[in-house]
Amino acid sequence: MLQVRSLTKTYSTIPALENVSFTICPGQVLGYLGPNGSGKSTTVKIITGLLEPTAGSVFFNGANIKDDLAAYKRIVGYVPEEANLYPFLTGLEYLELIGRLRGLKGRVIARRAGEMLEIFSMTPHRHSTIGTYSKGMRQRILLIAALMHNPDLIIFDEPLSGLDVTSALIFRELVKALSRAGKLIFYCSHVLEVVEKVCSHIIILQNGKQLAYGTVEDLKTFQQMPSLEAAFAHLVQERDAPASAAALVEVVSR
Ligand SMILES: Nc1ncnc2c1ncn2[C@@H]1O[C@H](COP(=O)(O)OP(=O)(O)OP(=O)(O)O)[C@@H](O)[C@H]1O
Ligand SMILES: [Mg+2]
Repeated sequence: MLQVRSLTKTYSTIPALENVSFTICPGQVLGYLGPNGSGKSTTVKIITGLLEPTAGSVFFNGANIKDDLAAYKRIVGYVPEEANLYPFLTGLEYLELIGRLRGLKGRVIARRAGEMLEIFSMTPHRHSTIGTYSKGMRQRILLIAALMHNPDLIIFDEPLSGLDVTSALIFRELVKALSRAGKLIFYCSHVLEVVEKVCSHIIILQNGKQLAYGTVEDLKTFQQMPSLEAAFAHLVQERDAPASAAALVEVVSR
């Protein structure tokens, strides 16, 4: 079980995250939503052990992750928001490197990488350098790299970014299958339609603060809204989209 208690992060004097708490149990998928700049990636960096919180703590199976960060990182799989891949390695070489860093045996890496590349239709591209890949191809490599060591906790920061329809569908089913396999999943996204389908629980953030936390059904019922998208718009009260669009067109046409 992952327990996040009263996380706060301040960058110099700017509060990016204030007093955020949640729990993820095996089989649960927590959807983490919020407008741009609301603190999602900051939370992700803290729960992956890449960033120290200003206050608050993260516990995995009762132990503070700070006590043995190396052991914690071994059970985490992370798909970052931005792909920092080595452009001069081929897709397969990158996966072999990650597999070795994760301590997997050569034949396990070869089998898992080969099969996962095939599932994501990357087999024909496995010997091309990552620098020549499209955005969606890089995203598929990141997904495979994050899952190859069979992590218990999987953290996705905008995993659908750039994925084509087929890969996005595979991804959606993959999240459900991972949940059935008892994994803990933290899923940051702006794609509410997918979040509504795959997540068991939802947190909505705004300006680093937790606006809502519950099951998808709880949120819809509580807000008396037909969809998660409507509940989200109601809670976050973003700008009137048609009015903003009209104003933009008006600005450039003057
Ligand atoms: N390294 C940093 N130094 C200073 N401020 C930062 C840093 N990283 C993030 N911030 C600030 O913290 C706030 C939250 O940023 P964060 O990246 O967590 O947002 P986000 O919810 O992931 O947004 P997006 O949807 O655009 O990815 C923003 O105001 C951002 O400017
Ligand atoms: Mg982000």
